[in-house]
Amino acid sequence: MNYEEARKKMSALGQEHVLKYYDELPEESRTALLEQIAGTDFSVLERIGSVSSDKRGVFSPLAAMQLPEIEKREKELYDAGVKAIKAGKTAALLLAGGMGTRLGSDDPKGMYNIGITKPMYIFERIITNLLDVVKETDTWIRLFVMTSEKNHDKTVAFLKEHDYFGYREDRIVFFRQDMAPACDFEGKLYMEAKDRISTSPNGNAGWYSSMVRAGLDRILADEGIEWIDIFAVDNVLQRICDPCFVGATVLADVSVGAKVVRKAAPDEKVGVMCLEDGRPSIVEYYELSDEMMNAKDADGAPAYNYGVILNYLFRVSDLAGITDDRMPMHIVKKKIPYIDGNGNAVKPAEPNGYKFEQLVLDMIHQLSTCLPYEVIREKEFAPIKNPTGIDSVESARELLKKNGIEL
Ligand code: UTP
Repeated sequence: MNYEEARKKMSALGQEHVLKYYDELPEESRTALLEQIAGTDFSVLERIGSVSSDKRGVFSPLAAMQLPEIEKREKELYDAGVKAIKAGKTAALLLAGGMGTRLGSDDPKGMYNIGITKPMYIFERIITNLLDVVKETDTWIRLFVMTSEKNHDKTVAFLKEHDYFGYREDRIVFFRQDMAPACDFEGKLYMEAKDRISTSPNGNAGWYSSMVRAGLDRILADEGIEWIDIFAVDNVLQRICDPCFVGATVLADVSVGAKVVRKAAPDEKVGVMCLEDGRPSIVEYYELSDEMMNAKDADGAPAYNYGVILNYLFRVSDLAGITDDRMPMHIVKKKIPYIDGNGNAVKPAEPNGYKFEQLVLDMIHQLSTCLPYEVIREKEFAPIKNPTGIDSVESARELLKKNGIEL
């Protein structure tokens, strides 16, 4: 794209100011800015003010496969899972494109050292967990790692420097997720530098479209991968591609399996698996009516009782049916660093604009069937969102120690 085309494109959007410093930029920066303008999807800006996507349908309960059934069928589930893994039908995909702002480190979240007496990085824990299954099944599971342009180089360099914590390099594929522009409350794009429009990763649902854009669906097809376990970088206890979960999802013949934990209290602040207008969905804790909180299943247990932990096994052949334009766009107020009218960098103390994100939980709602699969919270759920307090480095360390992991 040349300057004139870029100017036309941006002025049609009422965003010509992004070229304000163009004349004073060195050649390289000019090219970078024009490339960014050509490659960015600005249509997200049109979603500002369209609140209709928040409207929810009619909720009803969705039964989970609970621990007693899992224990009873353990051998059957395990054998089916091992069979799928050994046949190379199962891949893992690490969602590591987030900014980890709450943790407050400048490095990618996975580089965070949670060790006490020795180094123990978040990435190390995650890979060690996956390696358990690799050893158990004697199969090098294909591992995709999604980064963003903000953390890609550091992530790749760090993992390489640490020899991928024992994972086989040729079984890992990195790819960058797409970025979405960020703007002020009036919809004007922010600039993060004179040659760069402010952007942020487009949310954890970005994995599928970004993967396709990177041409990686070829790998899925070539290797006969039928299932992908998508998981967050920050839950240091989760099992990934564990045979019983894989087996349960395959045998249930659903579009997606979702690991869930029993709620600690009826009003716990977690998203809960359910049906919405007959399709799988997640109801947020603040959307639960009193009636839903008191509803009971056939056994007299709470009917909306299983919270998601961001670990899903998607059936690959059903992913193509998920279309971007049916996915709600979450428009989130955030602190967005920018340069002001004089070209000075500003780090706002309060939210000053919008970021645009699409979320994995909305992908679930586009599928027709889902199996919520119960895991034991103390054994599989230790998310690290904050340095201290709830879902923090501190709480995760406690849980790791309880599970016999030396730190
Ligand atoms: P969170 O929603 O907790 O976001 O991500 P975060 O970026 O890690 O942390 P905060 O909110 O800025 O403090 C849940 C998972 O989704 C990934 C994260 O890396 C994490 O594994 N994620 C999130 C992406 O891969 N891309 C995104 O655009 C957003």
